[in-house]
Amino acid sequence: MRGQMASKKRESSSGVSVVAIDGPVAAGKTVVGRALARRLGLNYLDTGLMYRAITWLALQHGTPIDDEGALGALAEAHPVRPTGQDSDRVLVGEHQVGPELRESRVNRQVSLVARVSAVRRALVRQQRVLAAEGGIVVAGRDIGTVVLPDADLKVFLSASPESRAGRRWREMLAQGQTVDFQQVLRETRARDEIDCHRADSPLVAAEDAFLLDTQDLTADHVVEEILEHIRELTGAGEP
Ligand code: CDP
Repeated sequence: MRGQMASKKRESSSGVSVVAIDGPVAAGKTVVGRALARRLGLNYLDTGLMYRAITWLALQHGTPIDDEGALGALAEAHPVRPTGQDSDRVLVGEHQVGPELRESRVNRQVSLVARVSAVRRALVRQQRVLAAEGGIVVAGRDIGTVVLPDADLKVFLSASPESRAGRRWREMLAQGQTVDFQQVLRETRARDEIDCHRADSPLVAAEDAFLLDTQDLTADHVVEEILEHIRELTGAGEP
């Protein structure tokens, strides 16, 4: 696939070196991205966690969320380095953070931080460096359209807001959080609204993306569908 790029970069036996996975809130990007990376023998990078890390840092520093200049300066001064297994933690400044990036105070603010162009410039630059050697599945909102437009494979996951909010609600319950489903649904819709309508890099499927409605599919099923799609594209056997 896109032979020139794949031949220069580390790739899986399927011939795929760089996979972009985009989609709205709780579409299954993380669970599918991790499992796909494992199946293909590639690394995994969750770019959402990088926006969450800058949001968390802004809250720690008391940076006003409407001060675009200060947010941009914060992102420039504090590179975010993924650590931990499966890209589930990051180093930002002197802090190593993981579960705190999924707290509701971060959920409520992250899309406001992510719409700031100066923040995006800093993080997109870092994401391209992290993906430069290939051998990686990268999940986010603008990976196939902006960050890695030459990815070997672009996947766009979608499902209704109700079903995505339901998944997120069940995840939160399983972690022992007491949350109201209607509140999770409201927050899902609010974040989608900002992500889809921001001026810089709005959430949209790349023209050449493989579109997958995950509504009635388990994560395993979604991974199988993507692997099948790769087999069709490459004519390869089991990736
Ligand atoms: O896991 P979930 O779908 O809830 O969100 P996430 O992937 O952790 O991303 C959190 C937020 O970061 C998104 O709602 C976007 O506002 C922003 N984001 C972005 O703008 N661009 C990316 N490539 C990844 C995330």
